[in-house]
Amino acid sequence: MSKTEKIRGVRGMNDVLPADEAHWRRLEDVVAACMRGYGYQRIRTPIVEQTRLFVRGIGEVTDIVEKEMYSFTDSLNGEALTLRPECTAGVVRAAIEHNLTYDGPRRLWYTGPMFRHERPQKGRYRQFHQVGAEALGFGGPDADAEVILLCQRLWDDLGLPGVQLEINSLGQSQERHAHREALIAYLEANADQLDEDARRRLHSNPLRILDTKNPAMQALVEAAPKLIAFLGEESLAHFDRLQALLRAQNLPYRINPRLVRGLDYYNLTVFEWVVDGLTICGGGRYDPLVEMLGGRPTPACGFALGVERVIELMRRAEPQGAEASCDVYVVHQGAQAELAAFQAAERLRDTGLDVVMHCGGGSFKAQFRRADASGAFVAVVLGDDEIAAGEATLKWLRADDGQAADARQFRVPLGRLTEAIVERVRDEG
Ligand code: HAM
Repeated sequence: MSKTEKIRGVRGMNDVLPADEAHWRRLEDVVAACMRGYGYQRIRTPIVEQTRLFVRGIGEVTDIVEKEMYSFTDSLNGEALTLRPECTAGVVRAAIEHNLTYDGPRRLWYTGPMFRHERPQKGRYRQFHQVGAEALGFGGPDADAEVILLCQRLWDDLGLPGVQLEINSLGQSQERHAHREALIAYLEANADQLDEDARRRLHSNPLRILDTKNPAMQALVEAAPKLIAFLGEESLAHFDRLQALLRAQNLPYRINPRLVRGLDYYNLTVFEWVVDGLTICGGGRYDPLVEMLGGRPTPACGFALGVERVIELMRRAEPQGAEASCDVYVVHQGAQAELAAFQAAERLRDTGLDVVMHCGGGSFKAQFRRADASGAFVAVVLGDDEIAAGEATLKWLRADDGQAADARQFRVPLGRLTEAIVERVRDEG
């Protein structure tokens, strides 16, 4: 007999299964509370944007734009579109389009799926999720410190120890330009030590060469001219003040002069949060971006964390992550009992209880197996006997609730069913 071929999900794009739901929901709850606590408002932008938004915003010679974007032509109108690889450009576009910073600065946050055509491996996916925050209209190092503190609070509230902060300053464009010239001259003088990737980037994006993972080039990049030596007074003052604010909050950090980030919109402060060599969150200041996208010059900073990477840490910290369960499971047999069961389930839901109604029939024995597996603390049982008597049987399912046998299973009049369950829930707190 021929078997129909199974259709699999797209490589690097994951299903989030119910077993992980507890972690996802906790992350979402902690994030929402934390964002509220810092005065951030939620924004939801489309998953699809015009391709040129990312080309202009993220930068033409970045890895993301060069080789990782899911871009396509809309077959109906020929528009060049892209699945968002990140959300900062989209948020800035929306802020410009809707004049969101007209009355002053804005704090915005978002969460949702992003898409990058990378080589899938643990912690690196083609569809992944980010939580991000963007503070638009704030020019000072106080805003940089605030977004960093917000991240620290997230790690604390999620119970994630050992997340380390790395910071750097990229200065302003003329400072980076002077550094870039010096860097190119240095790398050219040592051209024989460059790998193919570095040679390709020498004139297009030499800063990214400092980020190389190639062990053979580590000594070379270690001794390369440092951007910090090219920073002017104002940039240094910005960086110093940020550090003073972090120190005052007892927030440990490490200055990583090679931290350059993979997107072109940054200036001054950049930072990453790292656990065991894996970056779970990155961000910084991006003062040029609003103007680059056609808005009035508006300073800004923000960050985004990788949800899958954070969930993985949560899983490590608390492997089981309480599975979602219901309160009541309704077991029934017979046409009359089915009508009563629907009725009872709806009344119980009216009180706010989570109720799973058995569907698909089957023996009482099989139905009780489902009831036990559901995690419910009580089963409501309706059969011919019960219906004839105008009653329901309540069977309390947790053997560890310290009740005597006759308190674990008894009948109540149908009219008192909801009350009997609600009373016991209240008594047991
Ligand atoms: P990003 O560093 O490209 O920055 O991404 C932020 C985080 O998203 C990373 O630290 C990582 O945890 C997660 N991430 C990135 N790519 C993947 C992937 N392929 N699979 C799983 N997780 C991934 C941004 O996107 C900027 N928009 C951040 C920002 C906001 N800067 C200022 N405001």
